[in-house]
Amino acid sequence: MSKAGRLVVLVSGSGTNLQALLDASADPSYGARVVAVGADRDGIEGLARAAKVDVPTFVEKVGDHATRADWDAALAAKIASYEPDLVVSAGFMKILGAPTLDAFPVLNTHPALLPSFPGAHGVRDALAHGVKVTGCTVMLADAGIDTGPIVAQEAVPVLPEDDEAVLHERIKTVERRLLVDIVGRMAREGWTVSGRTVRIGNQSGGEST
Ligand code: GAR
Repeated sequence: MSKAGRLVVLVSGSGTNLQALLDASADPSYGARVVAVGADRDGIEGLARAAKVDVPTFVEKVGDHATRADWDAALAAKIASYEPDLVVSAGFMKILGAPTLDAFPVLNTHPALLPSFPGAHGVRDALAHGVKVTGCTVMLADAGIDTGPIVAQEAVPVLPEDDEAVLHERIKTVERRLLVDIVGRMAREGWTVSGRTVRIGNQSGGEST
C-alpha cells in the first residue's frame, strides 16, 4: 500500500488548488505536506503562493530543452530531488512523460466528470455540449490525456446563465475541497490500485472511493 506524506505539487496558473493543499497541510494532523512546487512557466500566481509560505519552487520550461524527452527527464529529476511520496498535478497544463509517471504516483485533478470532456478545456467543452450536470474528477495520471484510474468525482450543476468562468469557479469550489480530502486520506490511510479501481485505506471489499 502506498502512502503520501511528501507532496510535490505541479502548477501552471493561479494555483488555488495548491493553496487549498498548503492551507490544509499547515495542520500536522492532515498527514501530508507540500515539500516543493514546480511549474512549466515563470511569473504565475501558483509559484508566488508557494514562495509566500517558504515552500521551495522550481520552473522547468519545455522551450529551454532541445527535445520534449529532455524536458521530461529534467522535470523528473527536479521532482525526484524533493523525494516526494506523491506528485499532485493541480492545474499543470502539460502531459507528463514516462520519466515522471514511472517514478512516482501522480494524482491529477480535472474540471469535468471524466471520461467526458478530457483535455485542456473541460469546462468549455461541457458548456458547448449543453450538459446540465458536470463536475470534477481526481484521478491517478497515466500516459493518456485524463485517462487514469478515477479516485473520486463530484457533480456540479450547470446553470442556464453560466459562462465558462462562472461555471469553472463553481466547479473549483468543489474541486478544492475534494482534492484536499482525497490527498489527506491517501496520506493517512494509504491506497491500492487494482486495474482501474483505486481504494483508499485497508478496505476489504464493498466500499470504494
Ligand atoms: C483546475 O480546475 C484544474 O482542474 C484544471 O485547471 C484548474 C486549475 O486551477 N486543470 C485542467 O483543466 C487539466 N486538464 P487552479 O490553478 O486555480 O488550481
